[in-house]
Amino acid sequence: MRTNLRAGLAAALLTVAGAAAVQLSSAAPASALDNGLAKTPPMGWNDWNAFGCNVSAALVEQTAQAIVTSGLRDAGYSYVNIDDCWALPDRDANGNLVPNPTKFPDGIKAVADFVHGLGLKLGIYEDSGTKTCSSSGGFSGSLGHEYDDALQFAQWDVDYLKYDDCNQPADQQNIPATIARYTAMRDALAAATAQTGQPIVFSICEKTDFGVPNSAWPTIGNLWRTTGDIHDQYSRVVSLFHTNVQLASLAGPGAWNDPDMLEIGNGGQTDAEYRTEFSLWSEMAAPLIAGTDLRSASAATLAIYNNADVIAVDQDSLGKQGTIVSSSNGHWVLTKPLANGDVAVTLFNETDTPATIATTASAAGLGHSPAYAVRDLWQHATTETAGNITAVVAPHATEMYRISLGADPDTVPPHTAFSLTGLDSAQPGQPTTVTETFTDDGRIPAENVRLTLDAPSDWTVRATSRSTFASVLTGQTVTATWQVTEPEPDQPFPSWTLSAKASYVWGPSSTPADVSTAQTITRPSPVRAPYRTFASTTAQFGQGGDTLGIRAAGSDVFGATNQYGSIYLRNAEQDGTTETVELTAQASTSDWAKSGIMVRNDKQRPDGRGHRDNGVPELAASDP
Ligand code: GLA
Repeated sequence: MRTNLRAGLAAALLTVAGAAAVQLSSAAPASALDNGLAKTPPMGWNDWNAFGCNVSAALVEQTAQAIVTSGLRDAGYSYVNIDDCWALPDRDANGNLVPNPTKFPDGIKAVADFVHGLGLKLGIYEDSGTKTCSSSGGFSGSLGHEYDDALQFAQWDVDYLKYDDCNQPADQQNIPATIARYTAMRDALAAATAQTGQPIVFSICEKTDFGVPNSAWPTIGNLWRTTGDIHDQYSRVVSLFHTNVQLASLAGPGAWNDPDMLEIGNGGQTDAEYRTEFSLWSEMAAPLIAGTDLRSASAATLAIYNNADVIAVDQDSLGKQGTIVSSSNGHWVLTKPLANGDVAVTLFNETDTPATIATTASAAGLGHSPAYAVRDLWQHATTETAGNITAVVAPHATEMYRISLGADPDTVPPHTAFSLTGLDSAQPGQPTTVTETFTDDGRIPAENVRLTLDAPSDWTVRATSRSTFASVLTGQTVTATWQVTEPEPDQPFPSWTLSAKASYVWGPSSTPADVSTAQTITRPSPVRAPYRTFASTTAQFGQGGDTLGIRAAGSDVFGATNQYGSIYLRNAEQDGTTETVELTAQASTSDWAKSGIMVRNDKQRPDGRGHRDNGVPELAASDP
C-alpha cells in the first residue's frame, strides 16, 4: 500500500460569543468626587495584566521611556502605574510600608522622579484590607493605616492610587464597612494632598464582592471597577462590556466606570478583537490603561493604542459615557454625545458571522440636517450621509464613527455599505448563489455602479442578475447575484479567496470610488473510504486525491500520553504486509511533534480507556 501523507500541526483557537439582553440603567446621576482630578478618563499603563507580580523599578522606568518614544505620552497616556507586589510582605518597625529593595533598590520616590522627568506620572497599588490580593502570600494592606500610607504616597510624589479590596476581616465584609473603608482612604488622600500639595487620583478597585452598588462610588473615587478581573479573551472582554455599558448614568468628569485595564497586545485575541476592546472602552468613557509590554509592543498594537480619533472620543470633555441605541442578536449600536455637538457612534458585531448593522443620525441623537459628515475613526476617512449609517461589520469587529451636522455632498463622497453573502453554503461541485449588496447612504447618488466578483480560476462563476446600475439613490440598496461552483478539492486543506467589488462615481466631477470585500474559504476536504479518522485530541482531517492531511495539537506521545489524530485503515497490518507513507510536509510544529506511520492494535484515548476495532491491528498515520 502506498499513501501520501501530508501532515501539519496547528493549535486551534476557540472563541465564544453570546447574545445579551441589556437595558439602560435608570440610576440617578451622582455628583463626582470633588478633588479636581481625572476630569477625563485616566490614561496610562499598568504592569499587572502582562507581568503579574514581576514588577520592578527597571520595568516601570523602561516602560515610561517606551511610552515617550512610541508617541503614547503625546497621545495622552500619562500614568505609569505600579500594581501589586511592589512592597515587602510586612511593614517596618515604625509601621511604614517598605518597597521591596530587590525590585525597587532606590525606593518609590526615585522612580517617581524618573517618571516625572519624562513628563509622566506615577501610580501605585494598595489594598483596603489587611493584605493585598496577590496569591503569592499578599503584602501588607492599608486597613487602619490609611492616613499614614496616604501621606507616605504623597511624600513619594505618587500621583495615582489603585486601591483593592481583598483580605477583609469578617466584620468588614458588608456594604457599610466597605463604603467606610474607601471613604477613609478618600479622606486620607485629601488630607495628604492638603499637607504636601501632591494631588492623587483615587482608583477604587472594589469588584462588587460585598454588594456595594456602583452608585455609591462617584462621590468617593475618581474611577471604580465595575467588574471582576479582565482576561485576554474575547468572551471575557464582551462580558465586562455587557456589565459596564449599563452604568452610563454614573459617569461624568472626575468619576468613571472602570471595566478594568486593557489587554490589547497580549496575544490572546485578534487585532479586530483588540480594536473592538479599544473602541468599546472609549465609547464607554472608560479609563484607557494599557496592560501589555509596551517595550516590545508590535506596530499593530501601538497603532491601536495610538488611535487619536478614538482617544478623542474617550477623552471628550463633555464626559458622557456612551449609551445603547439598539442591541438585537449581538448587533450593538451605541452613541456618545461629544462636547462640540457631534456624536460618536459605535457599531459592534458581537457574533461569529458578518453582519450589516444600521442606525440613523437622529437615533444617535443628532438634530435634523440635510447631510451629516461621517468620520470613520479607524479608517480616518470622511463620507457624508443623508441620515442612515449602515456598515457591514466583520465578526467580533467594531466600526466607529464621529457624526457631525452638515457636510458638503459635492466634496465629500457618499457613505456606502457593501457585502458579499451566501458563500458559507458553498460545497464542492454544487452551484451556490451568492449575493452582493450595495447601499448608498449619501445625500447624492452613486452613479455608474458596477458590481463585480473575482473568483479563483478553478471556480465557475455565472451572473444570474444584472450587475450595473446607472444610479443608486439616497437610501437605496441594489443587489447582484451570481451562481458560483466550488471545484472538487485536490488538496486536504484548500483555501480560496473570492473578492467582490463595487465601483461607482459620485459628485459633480464624477469622482471614481470603489469599495470591496474579500472572503476566504478554508475547509478540510472530506476524508473518503476506506480511510477513517480518529482524534484523541482536537484534530482536523482532509483528503485531496491521494494526499491526506492532519491538523492536530497535543502532548508528545513519548511515554504514556495518547494525544494524536490519525487517518487510518482498519485491519491493514497482516503477516508480510509492507506499508509505505511519504511524508510530504510538516508545518507549524514544535520540535517534538511527530508525523508518520503508527501501528497500533487499538485507538486509545488519553484517559487510557481502549477503543478496539475487533481487536485487530491497524495502520494509522498519526500526529503527533
Ligand atoms: C486584583 C485586581 C487586579 C490586580 C490584582 C493584584 O485581582 O483586581 O487588577 O490588581 O488584584 O493582586
